[in-house]
Amino acid sequence: MRRTGSFRCSYAGAVNPDPSPVRCHVVTGKGGTGKTTVAAALALALAADGGSVLLIETEGRQGIAQLFDTPPLPYEERRVAVARGGGEVKALAIDVEEALLDYLDMFYNLRRAGRALRKMGAIDFATSIAPGLRDVLITGKIKEAVTRRHDGRRVYDAVVVDAPPTGRITRFLGVTAEMAQLARSGPIKTQSDGVMAVLRSPQTAVHLVTLLEDMPVQETSDAIAELTGAGLPVGSVVVNMAAEPVLPTDGLERAASGLLTGADLAPALTAAHLSGGQELADALAAEVVEHAQRWVSQDALRDDVEALGRPTVELPLLTGSMDVGCLFELAGRLEEHLRDEVGRADRGPSTAARNERGAERSAGAIGGMA
Ligand SMILES: Nc1ncnc2c1ncn2[C@@H]1O[C@H](COP(=O)(O)OP(=O)(O)OP(=O)(O)O)[C@@H](O)[C@H]1O
Ligand SMILES: [Mg+2]
Repeated sequence: MRRTGSFRCSYAGAVNPDPSPVRCHVVTGKGGTGKTTVAAALALALAADGGSVLLIETEGRQGIAQLFDTPPLPYEERRVAVARGGGEVKALAIDVEEALLDYLDMFYNLRRAGRALRKMGAIDFATSIAPGLRDVLITGKIKEAVTRRHDGRRVYDAVVVDAPPTGRITRFLGVTAEMAQLARSGPIKTQSDGVMAVLRSPQTAVHLVTLLEDMPVQETSDAIAELTGAGLPVGSVVVNMAAEPVLPTDGLERAASGLLTGADLAPALTAAHLSGGQELADALAAEVVEHAQRWVSQDALRDDVEALGRPTVELPLLTGSMDVGCLFELAGRLEEHLRDEVGRADRGPSTAARNERGAERSAGAIGGMA
């Protein structure tokens, strides 16, 4: 059973001869598995120790603003957090209409005309009748942020994208290629080619967030196959909301099989001078059994996750409401894995990869990269 892995494994030499780091992290996953939360925590982790990271929201739901407890994000890059060690996370919620105006301006010098069209409702109309257009504009903006330079230096060390769910991710990332087939020359073709060159390069990694439940693991597996088939680079699997064992494994397995009762706990409760008698002991035993069953059923799925053959990182199920403190806690876990991987790469990539998952599986991971 393997519980570690990281975001850098996919590029830090372990599976790619070019050690250039991934700079465009696309976070997808089944709905509700924690894409937005993981994307935000990953942005904090990547910004630690002085990095500059842009976190992009693509679904227009202002989930990032809520998480960082800031007012709704305008279509403008705004600082939402200072990471550990002074790094900075900026966030951008893409407004499709604004992105289209940018686009018209960039290629056709049509900003004023675009504004007039907007007033007439034509832009809303265009983006709703051609949903593919929406995705082209969003992926275009992502590429622009990843490649942006100022005074010859990159503006962002990394861009993290809170992307559409697994069911739509391949289409979303590949839509520009579809457009390129429609336009065989001209600015749209040039733009599409540029976007696909970034998204299919080792600069990009599509990370998949899953829970230790059947459906999300299955969707993750399907998405990996689809992305790989479309030549898009698959990164890590993030197992989110994993229950952490509160008892040693032996005890958990025994409890899960229903062999733990109040009578087993009563002597310890009496020795600890806890009143409540049989009733308390039975209630506690029921809770332990429930936790143990949940842990055992999750644990069984760890093998399925491992069989996906991707670097894997686990994040715990946190209690209480999700706030910035929780994000920093999750970011800390992600940072640990980022560090592990840097160490692993320094020790020798292929050895590390073999130690981690066996030579055969390592070769499978290479196959997953574009
Ligand atoms: N590690 C965690 N521990 C506890 N709660 C979590 C954790 N990760 C996410 N959550 C909670 O789970 C819920 C879903 O998370 P989130 O909104 O990030 O998922 P999502 O995949 O972006 O959802 P959607 O598909 O609706 O965009 C939220 O209430 C969030 O606070
Ligand atoms: Mg979300």
